[in-house]
Amino acid sequence: MSQHFTHQLAKKPLAAKKIVIANWKMHGNLKQNQALLTQYIAALSDLKQTKIVVCAPYPYLAQLQQMLQHTDIAWGAQNMAKNAEGAYTGEVSAAMLKDFGCEYVIIGHSERATAYCESDENIAQKFLQAKQHGLTPILCVGETLIEREAGVMELVIGKQLDTIIDLHGAAIFADSIISYEPIWAIGTGLAATPAQAQAMHKFIRNKIARLNQEAANRLKILYGGSVNPQNAVQLFVVSNIDGGLIGKCSLEAQAFEKICAAADSAI
Ligand code: PGA
Repeated sequence: MSQHFTHQLAKKPLAAKKIVIANWKMHGNLKQNQALLTQYIAALSDLKQTKIVVCAPYPYLAQLQQMLQHTDIAWGAQNMAKNAEGAYTGEVSAAMLKDFGCEYVIIGHSERATAYCESDENIAQKFLQAKQHGLTPILCVGETLIEREAGVMELVIGKQLDTIIDLHGAAIFADSIISYEPIWAIGTGLAATPAQAQAMHKFIRNKIARLNQEAANRLKILYGGSVNPQNAVQLFVVSNIDGGLIGKCSLEAQAFEKICAAADSAI
């Protein structure tokens, strides 16, 4: 067992009430990104208490830095290496992300966990790397449809969290983000109902709270999976839903703007 993480409780809590994160996945190019970011900047400057974060493919982080550095919009990556440095061809370290001004990093997205066989242990190592380098990890957890139908979603998500808790201790969740992303809702157009999301968010927060109340208070829990302008309001008004991780609709400036406005007005 590695040493438990102890530093982050001194760090300032995530200040925004809600957080909305654009996950561009493997979409975009320099020209399209420029147009989309220009629209984001124009549309999202009036938000009162909602933090916007854009997570783009690695080659575009310099573009995000250049275009967003004097705005309130933050940026980050969609993945990161579990090691700090070394002979790991094709990997990108936390320190490299910091070089390009990243403040956030998505970790353990199910599209990676399934397609690239990411284990819970790898994900736990990445989580620690992110924290040690001052990046805010956005940890994705969620169950498959089969697991939901079998009623074992709490067991599945509990296990995903336990790997991190066992290795690093529950305090590591302070000033971190967990995104509850039912796999059956990602990219399918079928979002979780507010009641389903609320139940899982409550389960996650209570699980951390039993081990470390302060960490649970300082943890943001987002919902991800087919959030769109129509369902955003109902989801964001739910207690315990601190915002969203948005895939498809983050690629359309108007849809994303409406989702961000829904988060801001839900406060
Ligand atoms: P979606 O993606 O909004 O396209 O469903 C969400 C996600 O993968 O985080």
